[in-house]
Amino acid sequence: MRSSIHNHKGQNCWMAAPIGRLAVQNYRVISEDVAAQRCEIVPTDVVEITAAHPVAVDPLNPVHDVRNCREWGERAVSLHVYSRPFNSCVVYSVEQGTCGEIGLNYTSMYGKLA
Ligand SMILES: [Fe+2]
Repeated sequence: MRSSIHNHKGQNCWMAAPIGRLAVQNYRVISEDVAAQRCEIVPTDVVEITAAHPVAVDPLNPVHDVRNCREWGERAVSLHVYSRPFNSCVVYSVEQGTCGEIGLNYTSMYGKLA
């Protein structure tokens, strides 16, 4: 399992894995033109999230994906806390050099199911 490579629309983010573990692959954005759907990003470091080791997304390099590696052979649960809610983000393809904005959905808003 792997998320898309994405950003957080300028919001801070903290991630924890109360069950299992996850790998976060970070990327550096060399160039990004969302209107033209073109980008150049390069993989940088990988950090591991466990119950004992939560991770903060670097606000200066906020593009990443999150992976539950097949070879670990275990389930994982992640918890993400954002400084402010956002309902869209930019997703990236390293191979194609493309990016684009996608819509996101809320499970609930103000305590009520959406
Ligand atoms: Fe994320």
